[in-house]
Amino acid sequence: MDSLISVISELRKISNVVGRSQLELPQIITVGSQSSGKSSVLEGIVGWDFLPRGTGIVTRRPLILNLVNVPENDPKRKQTGLIGNWATFGHLPNEYFTDFEKVRKEIENDTVKVVGNDKNISEVPINLTIFSSKVIDLSLVDLPGITRVPVGNQAITIEEDIRKIIHEYIKSPKSLILAVTPANQDVATSDALHLAKKYDPEGKRTLCVLTKLDLMDKGTHAMKELTGQTIPVKLGIIGVLNRSQEEINNCSSIEDCLLKEEIFFGNNYPSISSKNGIKYLRKQLNKLLINHIAEHLPGLRDGINNLSIEQQAVLDHLGEAAIDEDQTKLTIQVIRKFSDLFKDLLNGYDDLDTR
Ligand code: GDP
Ligand code: NA
Ligand code: MG
Repeated sequence: MDSLISVISELRKISNVVGRSQLELPQIITVGSQSSGKSSVLEGIVGWDFLPRGTGIVTRRPLILNLVNVPENDPKRKQTGLIGNWATFGHLPNEYFTDFEKVRKEIENDTVKVVGNDKNISEVPINLTIFSSKVIDLSLVDLPGITRVPVGNQAITIEEDIRKIIHEYIKSPKSLILAVTPANQDVATSDALHLAKKYDPEGKRTLCVLTKLDLMDKGTHAMKELTGQTIPVKLGIIGVLNRSQEEINNCSSIEDCLLKEEIFFGNNYPSISSKNGIKYLRKQLNKLLINHIAEHLPGLRDGINNLSIEQQAVLDHLGEAAIDEDQTKLTIQVIRKFSDLFKDLLNGYDDLDTR
């Protein structure tokens, strides 16, 4: 994780010089039916407790969550006096939130402000940015879930309205789709997997996350689903154990949940326990991010080609290294080498050995 943080922040510096568009980091989006566990999964990935979750329609506007890495020794921290993690909202740019309980309240308040107290939805996103030394630069998008029958004041077109919102995010090739599917319903008819298949027919950017394994009928298990025998998903199907509503009400921490999850998979799915759980999901996401960066290095190189001729020397170094998709370590090395060289160059270091 630490190496990924530093590589991405190096790359951010490089792409600032080359042009931002040269390296668009993917955004991770959650899709699925209402109450399938989308918000819970996103929270698990980030490792903090700040999203409104619950039964019924809770996520009523897209939430764009930007994570920004701020190293411990960043001067910005001294200037602002902000030490740990903090958050800001697009609609409250001058307010710094350090209490994540208040972040959740503000998401709820602003949802009501924009769409009212009932169960209506809106495509107007909430922009939330979290600053921390423990995150990588990344955007995650929490989306309203698919529902079919209008409730409360919901429009008769509710399903179509929600699908339109999802469409805006899922259509982008830079969106990594987390297809969140509850294991206690028929996985073969999963809304999430159907949506993913429609927008990503080759399955290049879809990961399936199977939730609610603890809520399956007694005596049944999800072995077939977890091993892709029911519906195969190229990038993988990862089971997670989120907190139940009762655990949320009792304020169980995410750490407690991770421990419980480990025990759950150890007991119920011992042969595949190391390939499931939130921690494994995080690992897989990191891997996908590194592959994405590797794939975009050529574009990055093109951008640099347009810079001055002296800088061409740097590229000669880079050209030697082959990138094997599976060898993420090598990729990191290449990127490190690349960014170190490039940094030196920017500092006016002109004594490069370009053999
Ligand atoms: P969303 O509507 O898809 O964002 O779903 P939420 O994350 O809000 O979760 C909906 C409800 O299901 C909440 O009450 C969660 O506590 C519960 N939930 C989600 N995942 C699990 C799980 O894996 N196990 C159990 N027991 N409950 C879960
Ligand atoms: Na919900
Ligand atoms: Mg939600």
